[in-house]
Amino acid sequence: MTPESLAALHAAHAADPHAFWLNQARRLVWERFPATSGDWSFDRSDFHIRWYGDGVLNLSVNCLDRHLPARADDVALLFEPDEPGTGRAVTYAELHAETCRLANLLKERGVGRGDRVMIYLPMIPEAAAAMLACARIGAVHSVVFGGFSPESLAGRIEDCGARVVVTADEGVRGGKTIPLKANVDEACEIAAGVETVIMLTRTGAEVALREGRDLRYDDHRDRLSIDCPPEPMGAEDPLFILYTSGSTGKPKGVVHTTGGYAVWVATTFDWVFEPRPDDLFWCTADIGWITGHSYTLYGPLMAGVPTVMFDGIPTYPDSSRLWETIDRLGVTILYTAPTAIRALMREGDGPVRKHRRDSLRLLGTVGEPINPEAWRWYHDVVGDGRLPIVDTWWQTETGGVLMTPLPGATRMKPGSATRPLPGIEPLLVDPQGQEIMGDDVSGNLCLRGSWPGQMRTVWGDPQRFIDTYFVTYPGLYFTGDGCRRDADGDYWITGRVDDVINVSGHRIGTAEVESALVAHPLVAEAAVVPAPHDLKGQAIHAFVTLNAGEQGSDPLRAELNAEVRKHIGALAIPERIQFAPGLPKTRSGKIMRRILRKIAEGQLDQLGDTSTLADPGVVEALVRDR
Ligand code: PRX
Repeated sequence: MTPESLAALHAAHAADPHAFWLNQARRLVWERFPATSGDWSFDRSDFHIRWYGDGVLNLSVNCLDRHLPARADDVALLFEPDEPGTGRAVTYAELHAETCRLANLLKERGVGRGDRVMIYLPMIPEAAAAMLACARIGAVHSVVFGGFSPESLAGRIEDCGARVVVTADEGVRGGKTIPLKANVDEACEIAAGVETVIMLTRTGAEVALREGRDLRYDDHRDRLSIDCPPEPMGAEDPLFILYTSGSTGKPKGVVHTTGGYAVWVATTFDWVFEPRPDDLFWCTADIGWITGHSYTLYGPLMAGVPTVMFDGIPTYPDSSRLWETIDRLGVTILYTAPTAIRALMREGDGPVRKHRRDSLRLLGTVGEPINPEAWRWYHDVVGDGRLPIVDTWWQTETGGVLMTPLPGATRMKPGSATRPLPGIEPLLVDPQGQEIMGDDVSGNLCLRGSWPGQMRTVWGDPQRFIDTYFVTYPGLYFTGDGCRRDADGDYWITGRVDDVINVSGHRIGTAEVESALVAHPLVAEAAVVPAPHDLKGQAIHAFVTLNAGEQGSDPLRAELNAEVRKHIGALAIPERIQFAPGLPKTRSGKIMRRILRKIAEGQLDQLGDTSTLADPGVVEALVRDR
């Protein structure tokens, strides 16, 4: 983007927001183009968020039908499985057909508008088709990352009342298999209500099917029609639910609706990546996360840019995987996470330099703050010093990117997400809720006003939505992030200020890990805090107090890890479990997490005043044992 066109966008928004937002909506194909744009109030008494409320559209049409027939045989997605070079290309016509088949199968099983469908799949082309099939018939998809345990899956099934689960026999990642179907069976033992399990084939493993409930997609595929009329959806009809961890309680079902989400994803995809006809876009995120929804799938498909669906990991079969794949496929845009960059940086420049990477024209990063050292390596080594980097800050809740430098228009700064996109109004607030004006300041990051991609509610719990995001700072959306605005007015996200830990770009709620740990019969109490980690960004440090008379040991640590794996998934296993004789508490019994954080960070000179603790001696013991 040029500085002039960026300035023009800002000016257009300032002059007439309504016209500006309607203009962005023109990127989509609508059955009825909206006359309204945004309509919201963040006040508790009259809380509502609506975008394009009178518009009617279907997202699968925007991803597929609009490219037909002219581009029927063009590549819509490239499946890149765990084993390099064993993938295949899928055209728009093929993806359309697969989507319709799955949509028709869902309909046969009684799924219709508004029904929730759980998707627990590897990154196979059929996973894209399954999401699009839901969008086609107006069902609400809820994708659960394959790394979550059966119990987590069950919790989500119950929370949204899904009666159908789409899964695969197994997943394969980094050479290891994941028993997806068996996990679904286990989840269905815990959660009631699943009437249909549709099983796709990934490995062809022998797996048990339960009569009446389970069906193998391969047994039905050929008889299913490749025609399925798209359901006309209201812009505010829910499109999907994606569960994400917060600071309290169980994961929240973040609800995104059809019109606003699609407009925001299409708009940001255009602005940030400026797609060209010869692009091949590779976002390494799994569809189990918001980045996978918005930029592995919906963004590129709406833009008509072929997208890579990567069902592997950056270090398998070796640490040149990304670079080898980029050369083999001809990837032009790589969008990945700082944690992957750091892991590959550790292997040195050799694996990168072995490959040309000359197809690349743009690099992107997302998910956590990128440390300037990793940014420079990404820029200098991966990008040969010639490629711009978009450091995109956003959240599950925001649907799409909110802050990023725009190549050509914004000056890049290693580690800074720099500036908000047009239409986005960030502000910093102090703990008293006062806006912090001026530059070279730090505070809690809030947003003033709404944008089309904003989440609409927490599934089944609208009050929780308001309480989580709009109560701390009345009238504003609170992001949960801390942030600095530097002397130039550029923004630097400093990380979560709530009880959420960002492990390798994955959000983990401390409360969830703590409740998994205390589920062990020997555990009296647990407190979980982040600790800095070279590769993961943050790691989980757990302080665990055992019942009187019990001794901590490595076998017990293994049992506690197993507990976390069972209740949440391997991704939430603590890096470190420190057995503690007691936890620092105020006299009213509140755990002083601030002190635990400092101990986990090794900042022992910054423990602050511990004299007000109920038992100051506890801290000494924790410091001694760390
Ligand atoms: O703390 C911010 C961090 O990730 C959080 C959102 O996590 P999630 O909802 O899982 O979505 C991740 C993918 C969009 C944010 O609150 N975060 C995300 N991107 C960045 C970031 N922190 C710094 N820089 C970023 N580019």
